[in-house]
Amino acid sequence: MTADDRRPIRLIRPAAPADLAAVAGIYTHYVRHTVSTFEETPPPVEHWHQRLADLTDRGLPFLVAEVSGQVVGYAYAGPWRPKPAYRHTAENSVYLSPHHLGRGHGTALLRALVDACARTELRQLVAVIASPGNDASVALHRRFGFTEAGRLAAVGHKHGRWIDTLLMQLTLVPTPTTPAEGPAGTTGATQ
Ligand SMILES: CC(C)(COP(=O)(O)OP(=O)(O)OC[C@H]1O[C@@H](n2cnc3c(N)ncnc32)[C@H](O)[C@@H]1OP(=O)(O)O)[C@@H](O)C(=O)NCCC(=O)NCCS
Repeated sequence: MTADDRRPIRLIRPAAPADLAAVAGIYTHYVRHTVSTFEETPPPVEHWHQRLADLTDRGLPFLVAEVSGQVVGYAYAGPWRPKPAYRHTAENSVYLSPHHLGRGHGTALLRALVDACARTELRQLVAVIASPGNDASVALHRRFGFTEAGRLAAVGHKHGRWIDTLLMQLTLVPTPTTPAEGPAGTTGATQ
């Protein structure tokens, strides 16, 4: 037997309802113990059923990483903002079980997610990364060509500290810039 034979097999596949208890469990860890997410109360598994149904309706990907039959991580792309003109932009999320970090599963999930997004109508992906303290996420996104698009200072307060968000953006489909258009007075509105 070689080392390769003993290496656990990783499968990246679309999420199914039966995976969502594990997904909820992974997210609960980060809600309770980290500032990676600004959520403060772990959402129940029903939230994940709704999210999967919603993303499926929108044709957006929700993937899981399975190792030896166990869900060890997930990634999805969800609407960046609700207004319809944002329809070609999504925010991506990727979370791994804290017991399975640093073994390439995040890389495999994000690679599959970017590939899946590139087959949709999406043109832009945005990652919103709590900062400082999330070097792994920054390294992961940079690896796939995400570039820093801005920083929002002290927009979060959790576990007794103020937290910035670093925005990282990946252009899936280059978009030609068009001159400003539309009726006068449309600039300056809330986007
Ligand atoms: C971010 C996350 C998904 C990365 O997944 P992972 O499987 O641990 O990462 P990988 O093993 O695939 O490594 C990805 C990159 O991160 C780097 N990395 C991994 N752990 C790191 C750490 N603790 N510090 C710095 N860099 C790290 C790796 O070197 C690699 O970089 P490279 O491609 O330049 O070599 C995972 O750490 C995680 O779930 N973190 C908590 C949740 C989170 O913050 N999600 C992102 C929200 S936007």
